[in-house]
This record gives sequence, structure tokens and C-alpha cells, in this order.
Amino acid sequence: MEQQKRYGHFDDQHREYVITDPQTPWPWINYLGNEDFFSLISNTAGGYSFYKDAKFRRITRYRYNNVPMDNGGRYFYIVDKETGSQGDKTIVWNPGWKPCKTPLDFYECRHGMGYTRITGRKNGVEASVLFFVPLKKWAEVQKLTLSNTSSETKTLKLFSFEEWCLWNAATDMENFQRNFSTGEVEIEGSTIYHKTEYRERRNHYAFYHVNTPIQGFDTDRETFVGLYNEFADPQAVMEGKPRNSHAHGWSPIASHYIEVTLAPGESKDFVFLLGYVENEQDEKFEKPQVINKKKAHALIAELDTTEKVDKAFAELCEYWDALLNIYKVKTGNDKLDRMVNIWNQYQCMVTFNFSRSASFFESGVGRGMGFRDSNQDLVGFVHQIPPRARQRIIDIASTQFPDGGCYHQYQPLTKRGNNDIGGGFNDDPCWLIFGTVAYIKETGDFSILDEMVPFDNQPGSEVTLFEHLKISMDHVINNLGPHMLPLIGRADWNDCLNLNCFSWDPNESFQTTENVSEGTKAESLMIAGLFVVTGKDYVALCRKLAGLSGKSGISGIDFAAEAARMQQAVDAMIEAVKKHGWDGEWYLRAYDFYGRKIGSNECDEAKIFIESQGWCTMAEIGAEDGMVAKSLDSCKKYLECEHGMVLNNPAFSKYIYEYGEISSYPEGYKENAGIFCHNNPWVIIGECLAGRGNDAWSHYAKILPSYVEEKYQTLHKVEPYVNCQMVAGKDAFKPGEGKNSWLTGTAAWMWYTVSEFILGIKPDYDGIRIDPCLPETATDYTVNRKFREADYEITIHPNGAQKGVKTITLDGQPISGTVIPYSPGKHTVEVTL
Ligand code: BGC
Ligand code: NOJ
Repeated sequence: MEQQKRYGHFDDQHREYVITDPQTPWPWINYLGNEDFFSLISNTAGGYSFYKDAKFRRITRYRYNNVPMDNGGRYFYIVDKETGSQGDKTIVWNPGWKPCKTPLDFYECRHGMGYTRITGRKNGVEASVLFFVPLKKWAEVQKLTLSNTSSETKTLKLFSFEEWCLWNAATDMENFQRNFSTGEVEIEGSTIYHKTEYRERRNHYAFYHVNTPIQGFDTDRETFVGLYNEFADPQAVMEGKPRNSHAHGWSPIASHYIEVTLAPGESKDFVFLLGYVENEQDEKFEKPQVINKKKAHALIAELDTTEKVDKAFAELCEYWDALLNIYKVKTGNDKLDRMVNIWNQYQCMVTFNFSRSASFFESGVGRGMGFRDSNQDLVGFVHQIPPRARQRIIDIASTQFPDGGCYHQYQPLTKRGNNDIGGGFNDDPCWLIFGTVAYIKETGDFSILDEMVPFDNQPGSEVTLFEHLKISMDHVINNLGPHMLPLIGRADWNDCLNLNCFSWDPNESFQTTENVSEGTKAESLMIAGLFVVTGKDYVALCRKLAGLSGKSGISGIDFAAEAARMQQAVDAMIEAVKKHGWDGEWYLRAYDFYGRKIGSNECDEAKIFIESQGWCTMAEIGAEDGMVAKSLDSCKKYLECEHGMVLNNPAFSKYIYEYGEISSYPEGYKENAGIFCHNNPWVIIGECLAGRGNDAWSHYAKILPSYVEEKYQTLHKVEPYVNCQMVAGKDAFKPGEGKNSWLTGTAAWMWYTVSEFILGIKPDYDGIRIDPCLPETATDYTVNRKFREADYEITIHPNGAQKGVKTITLDGQPISGTVIPYSPGKHTVEVTL
């Protein structure tokens, strides 16, 4: 096979991905910030920042789908002189190559855990910028180190650049009749303040500061860039002369101008700080129309020297050290170890923080947090910072309705459900069980079930979280169709299987258009499987609570009876699937509005779908009758290709009015037979439960970024260090091309799959269950797992077996069963298969 062009490589020791060519096939980005202040940054310093909510608190402006791609960001322009045969010539360059695109003598971008370092060198000058958001601070630090590596004294001019967004990222892109008149700034020393709309209802402003006296500035974009120029050649920079402009309306920006002289070998640091401040209503102004800068001054004072910034950076690194020490594997396979120990866990943190809101494919103005998405994301994150997962569960449950249905999405800033999309996605409720059970198993904290949680955020409507779980299960039971299978509603996990929508109007959204619910027979086998999996979890939880009697705090519930009630519902669902959900070689996908089969051999196209194979094999429905094995074999036969398993096969070749958005996509893309990576792990877990370790591993490695990185940096196109939502499937024009990187449930599912089912370290109520499922070729490996107050070193000896634990010793003593009983302290565990 021909080796494709490479743009970078992993540096595992530093936990970095090192990009060595700025012209990657697509911007390769990173995320900065962990809790409140966030930034997206590309390998050429493009991107933007926001506070909590990418729609309502956008701090800097970004233009999606721009030409050229990824234009705009935090730019440093360095103006130098180059001596040639014709005498001196001015040369302008940027450490990240863009936007001037002056060829550099050296370029490198290192994306690390919560930071990015971009270094450029040109004509004996090195500019290295470290970007990060310090822990608990509402600011992005940009520490620029300028070094003179030549033997001459260098006299340089430095311009910084940021463009402000007028806060609401949606109206910023459309309401120009207003926007061009509202922009306001203040300038104080080396700080430029952005205070648009502060005079009225906003109690927040932003600032851009540098810790050195400046020799000039600009705050008006047109004056700085020039109406007929571009970011690549701003007039002020090209002439080496700031204009000291003061923006009134139009487009406010922030640019510092600094003159720098460097002796040979000399280096200087400049700390730039992009900050965000909120003031109390009665403390907004220091005098009429002058913003109160007290908090900005305090924030600046915390980060205004190299020493303070280096300390903040060291704290960030320690924070990540601690997070990544919770689960560490050593298998000797670098490609596996780096994904498990570094990048998969990192991506889980990012998806937990952002849900599907802001990436280079998600504009930040659309979806906020998804109900189902966030429940799944937290399963990949709960071991890292359990209290944050706990809060997330409460926030999510607060957007539920009294009948167990729920808002499909909510806004992170307000935590309120989005009325634009509403509810009616009938898989949503089950995911609350999935998330909550994972949280309790990780922490042993049953008290979360006693938390009083409202409906639709209405004060006074609170019931216990346990009650929310109960009505979630009941929502499925109360919405069964003619085959006693779950009614699908607007859609299940597959947002694009819109069986009740019936749209011929291209201006309608498949997802928000009023569905025909009267008389629908549309049922989902995906929800059926999901109900069985989460129902079994719910039953086990109730049994556990019955055993804890009294200790859980919740009173008035007979948990044993509740367990029995739900077990019956689960058994009934299993029967319904066996009777009405089996097509002979695989599980059906759904019944449509009229009760006709979807995902059946009888269909012309899309005879088989992945989701129901995944969920029904995870639920082990009909395993005793060979259904599970047949279904898994069918996935291999019909869905698998070189780049992973496609969602359905054959692809839809035409629009089907009764099916909705799924058939709107060209063949091989997105939900129409794309490799929708999120669902591959479902089948992989099905394989693991069935003990088929070779198959599980081969499916897993196909979509594991480190394996793809080695072969396909160009074809794959998007970042090689994280999973993307979708890889073009076998029917697509370019199979293997990735899209929608970063924000995908794939992260959490890859983590859940590898950590719990392949490597086999599974948190449980009373301890850690050990149950790996491996390829025959696996050799001995060790997992260091911090769990509650304990620290386990677990060594597994597979001995060529794919599955089946034979012996376990805990601190030298044999134990029976597969659960290591939890006890605080350090423990050594040996496992043989
Ligand atoms: C996409 C889905 C996505 C949904 C929600 C659909 O068009 O295909 O993947 O979940 O929109 O925005
Ligand atoms: C992306 C959405 O975020 C997720 O909720 C959905 O399940 C998948 N697309 C599949 O349609």
C-alpha cells in the first residue's frame, strides 16, 4: 500500500500531537478550557473563544465556511526586515503561518492536554506561542516568546489581533442593520475593552491585554485592515504603523502594537490575556458609561508575569496528570495505549464539556446540550470528575416532563429546555438510566437518587431522581405499538429515521416539523434493545436498593416489588423482539407508520441496519436461539468494510417520503450508510458479550484513530488524534474520508468499550468486575485503576483465550467470582484467563 503524505505524529511522552506542516488537509484543532471559559484553536491559530455558551456569550468572532477556510483567530504579525541583493525589504510573518502564509523556516504546532503551542521561525527570529486557559480562570493566556537566534540585533514590530463578536453568535451573523451601530470599546493603557451592549442589559464585557507598555493600538477593523485588504495584509501592519483607532460601531477589534529590540541570543516573553468579566447590576459602571474595571484589573494581576503564567500552566499540567492517572493501561501496543491513556480520555472530557455545540462542524449557534448525548458523554467522563457528572445528571433530569418524556436539548447557560426542538424522541428517557447507573457504579454514591429534581425546571415540581428514572422506564412502557415494541416518536437514536414526519417541503426541518402521531404504528427495535439493556440495569439497581433497605434514604418505595415489575416489562420486551423483531439473519430495524417492516430482507434497500444489531446483541436477546451470533455475523457480512461498519446496507438510492431525513443523504454519507462511528462500539460490545474477542478487536481497530493515523492522514482528512462522527462508507464517493470530528458520542462509547469490555475493568456497585474480551494474540497487560478511595494494579494474563476469567487473586489471596470487592487502599490483582 502506498504511504500517504504525513502531516504530523504522536509524541506520547508529552501527550501531544505534533503537526509539522501547517497545510493540513483540514484545520486540525484543539480545545482550551475546562469549565467556564473555552476556546477552539486550529493548528494555524484560527478559532474563537466563548464563556459557557457558544451561542449567547461568544467573545471573539469566527466565520464558518469561509474562503479561505479557517480565516480569523488570534493572530500575531511580526514585521522584520530582510536584507537581499536589492537592499532591505519588509517581511511580515505569523508564527502559525496563517494568515500571511509567508513561508517559514520552521513550523510546528503541538496540541496537548488543554493547551496548544505554535512555533514559527523566520530569518533568525523564533516566535513561540503557548495558548491555554488556566484552571478556574475566565481568560485565555497567550504567552508569546520572541527569540533572536541570529548574530545581529533585531528590531521588530509586533501586532496582535483579535476580532470581537457582538456576544450573540447567531445575530452577530445576520442582524447587520443593528450590529453596525452598536460596537463600543474602551482603551486603558495596554488593555482594550470590548463593551458592546454593556450600556443596556449586559453585565459582562471582555478585554485583551498585554503585560508590557504598547506603542500603539487599533480597535476599528476597517481602519486596521483597510476595507479592501484582508487578514493577510492589514494596512496598519503592512505599513508598520498602528492607527490608534477607536471603534464606534462597525466591527470592533483589538490589536496591540509593540516595538521590540532583541540582541543576538536574546528572548523576551509577552503575556497576552483575553479575559471575560461579569459585574453586579449596581456595580456596572465606575462613572457614567465607563465600565467598572476592578475585576479585570484583578484578573490581569493574577497573570501578568511569565512566572505567574508558568505556574498556572504547571497547574494545568498537574491537573491533567491526575486525571489521566485514574485509568492507565500498559499493553506494549503503543497505538492502543496512547488512545486509552491519552486521546480517548481527552476527547471524552471535550465532549462532556461541549456536547454537540461548538466545533469546526458545529457552529455553536445550533444545538446546545442534548438529552441523550449528554447522558452518553458522561459515561466516558464519570471516572475523571464524578461531581461534575453528578451535577450534569441533575441538570439533564431537570428538563424532563412529568410523563417521562423530555426536552431533546437544553441551553448550557440557562439550563432550560429548547422549545424550538421540543421533545418526542422516544429513546431519550432511557439514557437517563444509562448515565445515572454509570455514575453510581463509579462512585458508590446512591444519595444522588434522593436528590429532589424538578420537571421542566419548574420550582415546586420536584420529585426524587429515582422517581425520574422510574418514569423514564414507564415512558417506554406507556408508549408501545401494535407489536408491543416501543413507538419511535419523532426519531430514536437515529435522528434521521423520521417515520412520522412525511415531508415534501424542503423548507421544513425533519426534526422539528409537527409529526403525525395519530394512528402511527412506527416502532423501533433500537429502543427495544435499549430498553432491555437499561431495564436490566434498572432492575439490578432496584434489587441493590432493596438490599440497602433504609440506607438509601428514599422511603415509600418497595424496591423488590419495583424490580419484579420492571423485570416483567423487560421479559415482555424480549419476547416481543423475538416474535416480531427478528428477520431470520438479523434483527429488524423498525416498523413504519403503516406497520411495514424496515431493515428486512424483504426491503429493496437498507435491508439491514446497525443500531438494532448493536442494541439487541448488547441486550443478548435470543442468544440461546442463536440470534445474537447470526446478527453479529450479518454485521460482518453486510455492514463491515475497510474503514468500519456502515449504518445500513444497501444505502438508500432515493428519497423515501415515509422514512424522512435518512434517505435525504447521498449514498455512503451520514445516516445513509455512512460509517457512523458512534454505533460501531455497540456491535463491538455485542461481540464482547458473546466472547468473540477476535471480531471485537478487528472492528475496534478499524475505527481507532491511531491505526487510521498510521495509514490515512490525507484520506481521513480530519484530526488523526480523535474520533469523528462519520467516515464516508463503502457506497460513498470517497470511502474513508472523515467528517464532523471531535463532538461525537463515539468518544464515550469507544472509552466504555475498550476500558470495560475489551480490557475488562468494569466498575460495579460493590467493586470492580473483571471480564476482558481479547483477541487471541493479546499478551499480558496491566491496568492501574483508581476507584473511589482505592488504587488497583491489575495484571491480566490472557494465555491466548478470548474470554473467560479462570482465577483472580487479590493481594495474593484467591477470590471467587469476577468482582474484586471494593476496599480503600492499594491493591494488587492478578487475573488469568
Ligand atoms: C444529522 C444528525 C444530527 C441531527 C441533529 C441531522 O441532520 O444528520 O447526525 O444528530 O441533524 O442536528
Ligand atoms: C448526532 C446526534 O448528536 C445524536 O444525538 C444522534 O443520535 C446521532 N447524530 C445519530 O443521528
